Amino acid sequence: MIKEDKELIRKIKELKKKRNAIILAHNYQLPEVQDIADFRGDSLELSRIAAKNDAEVIVFCGVYFMAETASILSPDKKVIMPDISAGCPMANMMNADDLRKLKQMHPQAVAVGYVNTSAEVKAELDYCCTSTNAASVVNALKDKKEIIFVPDKYLADYVSKKCGRKLISWHGFCPTHVKILPEDLSREKKFHPKAKVMVHPECLSSVVALADAVLSTSQMGKFAKESPAKEFIVGTEAGLVYRLKQDNPDKEFYPASERAVCPNMKRTTQEKVLWALEELKDEVRVSDEIRKKARLAIERMLAII
Ligand code: 13P
Ligand code: SF4
Repeated sequence: MIKEDKELIRKIKELKKKRNAIILAHNYQLPEVQDIADFRGDSLELSRIAAKNDAEVIVFCGVYFMAETASILSPDKKVIMPDISAGCPMANMMNADDLRKLKQMHPQAVAVGYVNTSAEVKAELDYCCTSTNAASVVNALKDKKEIIFVPDKYLADYVSKKCGRKLISWHGFCPTHVKILPEDLSREKKFHPKAKVMVHPECLSSVVALADAVLSTSQMGKFAKESPAKEFIVGTEAGLVYRLKQDNPDKEFYPASERAVCPNMKRTTQEKVLWALEELKDEVRVSDEIRKKARLAIERMLAII
């Protein structure tokens, strides 16, 4: 049970109303941040909420590319991050120049990119995708001869096997998910033989191969709720276990590895949310030129699923 700072929470609620703001939190955020969020979700759900909601201010508790995506979809809203230094190392593993060069090497290829990319990279893409819909996006491109899929090499490998398509990939990866090893799953399976194994597609291919289900963070929540199983081994960032336990109090969840913690996702705190609402900063904005191009790739994705 987390100790609540009632006065801090009261101030956040009051300011949120005054600013006509909503708080969005990714499923990996600290419990104290998840507790004050209006919406929690995975990358796809948060993009959709950002696109639809009519609040004037979005306080984005997640990492930089997520706030950028919200700003691309809602340019009239003020999107602020409580800690703007929260980046995604995977997103930083490819820049727009890298993608332009890759496209030059494969001029016939359609370019699909994970949402974990900068706005500049998204502006070079034909289609965006998230872990929820990556396979559906690739399957929708059946008539295309060549597909570039960046930046995550493990997600690319998973999608390639699932869709039976060769993909032109990049050498990006998530430093948090690669900390989950096959031996972690074998160990946990020994301790909890009845547990179902859910893993995120950012995991090593050798880890994905051992899973009962390969899912985005919110899909894991749905899977756990709908499955008759009572125990689950969770192969993703350890923070998701908090939400899974809250939503399924009669079930047990075991993180595959306590090492799988994303330090950037843990930068945001309740205090920082309050300061962000007080000062209305730090704002995340994307130039019009980049935004218009990046938006096309995101909208093409949203039209598929
Ligand atoms: P999802 O919540 O979309 O599954 O993404 C996980 C992730 O690593 C976000 O950076
Ligand atoms: Fe990026 Fe990995 Fe952290 Fe997600 S968990 S934000 S992919 S570093």
